[in-house]
Amino acid sequence: MPPAPPLPTDAGTAPDGRPRTTTTSTTTSATGRTTETTPETTTAAVRAEDLRKVHGRGDAAVTALDGVDVCVARGSFTAVMGPSGSGKSTLLHCLAGLDTVTSGRVWVGPTDITRLREKQLTRLRRDRVGFVFQAFNLLPVLSAGENVLLPLALAGRSPDPAWHDEVVGRLGLRDRLGHRPAELSGGQQQRVAVARALLPRPDVVFADEPTGNLDSRAGAEVLSLLRSAARETGQTVVMVTHDPVAASYADRVVLLADGRLAGEVRDPTTESVLAALAALGG
Ligand SMILES: Nc1ncnc2c1ncn2[C@@H]1O[C@H](COP(=O)(O)OP(=O)(O)OP(=O)(O)O)[C@@H](O)[C@H]1O
Ligand SMILES: [Mg+2]
Repeated sequence: MPPAPPLPTDAGTAPDGRPRTTTTSTTTSATGRTTETTPETTTAAVRAEDLRKVHGRGDAAVTALDGVDVCVARGSFTAVMGPSGSGKSTLLHCLAGLDTVTSGRVWVGPTDITRLREKQLTRLRRDRVGFVFQAFNLLPVLSAGENVLLPLALAGRSPDPAWHDEVVGRLGLRDRLGHRPAELSGGQQQRVAVARALLPRPDVVFADEPTGNLDSRAGAEVLSLLRSAARETGQTVVMVTHDPVAASYADRVVLLADGRLAGEVRDPTTESVLAALAALGG
């Protein structure tokens, strides 16, 4: 049996491998609210500390995340893997401020999003985060092209025409922009969802199985777009995937099992990811 993969060390070490210090400083935001910042919060794009999420109540309560510590470096591409039901989507939703946490804290950049009021959280989601949903979540009454432009329109911003052209072209959507989601295949809808998340060039792109409905060619295009978002424009990408080939595009794979971190793979290859999943019993 292969040895168990090592536990993630990012929560305890800085990106340069030095142990993190625990000194904290306190700043007062423009709204007058006081927020605590630590050295990690200024170097990490996203960080969670002792994150717990319980869905439902009483007999129906399900602990989806059970004390997750994770730190995602700015400009990195991280894949999250683990068995179905292990908490991957819940983790992504909590990190992106789309779902409330039961306890623990989450920072996006220097901002502790668990302390934000709804209005501030809405603004953060709009301005700093892009999300590709597992179920796409396209608006059915809008065309594909309108769906792609919606986040920018809501923020009162116009698209960079060259970037719009590149994203739409590389995702093979040029002749589909006038169609409504119901007139598109699952894979086309998925690519519209990817374009919508990438177009505003958010600080962090979260993508929940963004290649789950794609053939290998379209999947490779989505993955190389995500990778170039991290490598060339310094955006941070966090992607859930079941596919070891997709995970091999990332800089690091974080493994989840039963709502807990269960290991990680640095500089993953298809083979090293398969071995780590086998060690997990997945
Ligand atoms: N809204 C909800 N209400 C109740 N339970 C939920 C809810 N969302 C998720 N869960 C439960 O939380 C656990 C984690 O779910 P989650 O969707 O995060 O898993 P996942 O790892 O993304 O799975 P998959 O690979 O199938 O997408 C599961 O047991 C799931 O049934
Ligand atoms: Mg999921």
